[in-house]
Amino acid sequence: MNEEVEWWEYDDAAEMAAAVAGDIGFIIESAIDARGAAVIALAGGKTPIPIYEKLSAAKLDWKRVTIVPGDERIVPLGDALSNVTALAKYFLPKGARVMPIVPSAIADYKAAGRSADALMQDLHWPLDLCLLGVGSDGHTASIFPGPDFDEAVNGPKERRALGLMPDPLPAEAPVPRVTLSLAAITSARALMIAVTGDEKRAVIETAIEQGRSSTYPIGLALAATELPVDIHWAPA
Ligand code: 6PG
Repeated sequence: MNEEVEWWEYDDAAEMAAAVAGDIGFIIESAIDARGAAVIALAGGKTPIPIYEKLSAAKLDWKRVTIVPGDERIVPLGDALSNVTALAKYFLPKGARVMPIVPSAIADYKAAGRSADALMQDLHWPLDLCLLGVGSDGHTASIFPGPDFDEAVNGPKERRALGLMPDPLPAEAPVPRVTLSLAAITSARALMIAVTGDEKRAVIETAIEQGRSSTYPIGLALAATELPVDIHWAPA
């Protein structure tokens, strides 16, 4: 069980967004001071959008910042489900390097995963930050049950990204995915979670209690890291 999980509770999503954006800004500045550049993975989905809005307004040396989605839905760029498209909207105008991880013309999700892995190998590693979201089914990034689950969780340590077919397909975005592996997520220098609502809080609490034998991907991620992890929470 990760003993170093700290919950941060806010009155609403706007307050959470301001606080989390402040923390991420600090991580970016520290990475630039220490290494001349920052490389961060940001969560997809809807919850972090207000965070990105706040963060993109921060005065940072954005030209030195590389942003990748921690997972991607395999859809064309510009699609409403595309995680990198949401990130690009906020951070490209600032001058950050926002990297799509799914090639535009790809039919095979496993090939998309191999291509994302190759791309990740070229980045400065470890990531300075991995911001995670959590689904109410306990998934994080795009680590879902299905034929690729074992590879995502137990695959070789060097595997940074892979293609994954969720089974069942999640209703909110029923498409195959590319995701950072559990090893890549937990190798980040900082790990942060941002979620809203009682349902997700209960899932994360159960996942933490379950520890290494967790039935939830987020539980496995928390059990696999010794880093202190901040969990930011606001009512839905
Ligand atoms: C994705 C994700 C995923 C997300 C959760 C929560 O691309 O689907 O990155 O892990 O963080 O599904 O999504 P919401 O914030 O939209 O509830």
